[in-house]
Amino acid sequence: MSDERVALVTGSTRGIGRAIAHRLSKDGITVIINGTSSESRIEEVVSEIKALGRKAIGIKANISDAKEVKIMFEKIINEFGRLDILVNNAGIARDTLLIRMDEREWDEVIKVNLKSVFLCTKEAFKLMRKKKWGRIVNITSVVGIMGNAGQVNYAASKAGIIGVTKSLAKEFASSNILVNAVAPGFIVTDMTDKLKDKIKKVFLETIPLKRFGEPEDIASMVNFLVSDEASYITGQVISVNGGMI
Ligand code: NAI
Repeated sequence: MSDERVALVTGSTRGIGRAIAHRLSKDGITVIINGTSSESRIEEVVSEIKALGRKAIGIKANISDAKEVKIMFEKIINEFGRLDILVNNAGIARDTLLIRMDEREWDEVIKVNLKSVFLCTKEAFKLMRKKKWGRIVNITSVVGIMGNAGQVNYAASKAGIIGVTKSLAKEFASSNILVNAVAPGFIVTDMTDKLKDKIKKVFLETIPLKRFGEPEDIASMVNFLVSDEASYITGQVISVNGGMI
């Protein structure tokens, strides 16, 4: 059954999204690689997956832009005529203290991290409800739960995702579409690579398991949530953070 399923993983050209796409494809799911990176970067990830004998296609699209999302879903419909799994993973950070944050930094983060979830989920729902089966996993963050100085825009977007997840779980339950969120702690990716060593050290001290997470730590949780093993779980926020909170 699962080998027929099709999944869109937004922001899957690198980091956590790329690891999720790899993990899902390992279980026979056809994956759609998305990002705003160059076509060649998207094709690289598609090729990695195809090299393992799995199915993948790439669609370049800015998921915070309604028109681009529409076009992306038209491509999905033309190619597969279905979408079973949506992982709303793409995200950005524009960190600075509130006093220095400008309107553009606020708007950009809310648009890419939160509005994109609204846009992609709405399109995905139209396809999933026809089959009365769907899995949506939203990638939030430990910061959306506990807050973090210098990240009010990011924390607001990630807390917003939690509200969306819990509401949609109720809205979509009768269509047998499950909606959950995964809240990663500190994961080693390009996003966290930008942080100063001093800040990384402070974070490390808050992690009982005494290591940063790997993208694969998140991918295995997402893979579980989209599997048949998780058919009685919806509206939950699952933390994967080494015990951080
Ligand atoms: P990353 O920066 O390595 O990768 C982000 C991906 O999103 C890239 O593929 C990029 O092309 C894509 N992207 C960015 N803006 C886009 C847009 N407008 N349209 C389409 N794609 C877009 O980030 P990372 O670390 O892999 O993060 C993935 C998700 O996990 C994000 O939502 C992030 O907020 C979340 N997260 C990451 C944590 C970490 O420690 N790395 C911790 C908690 C949450």
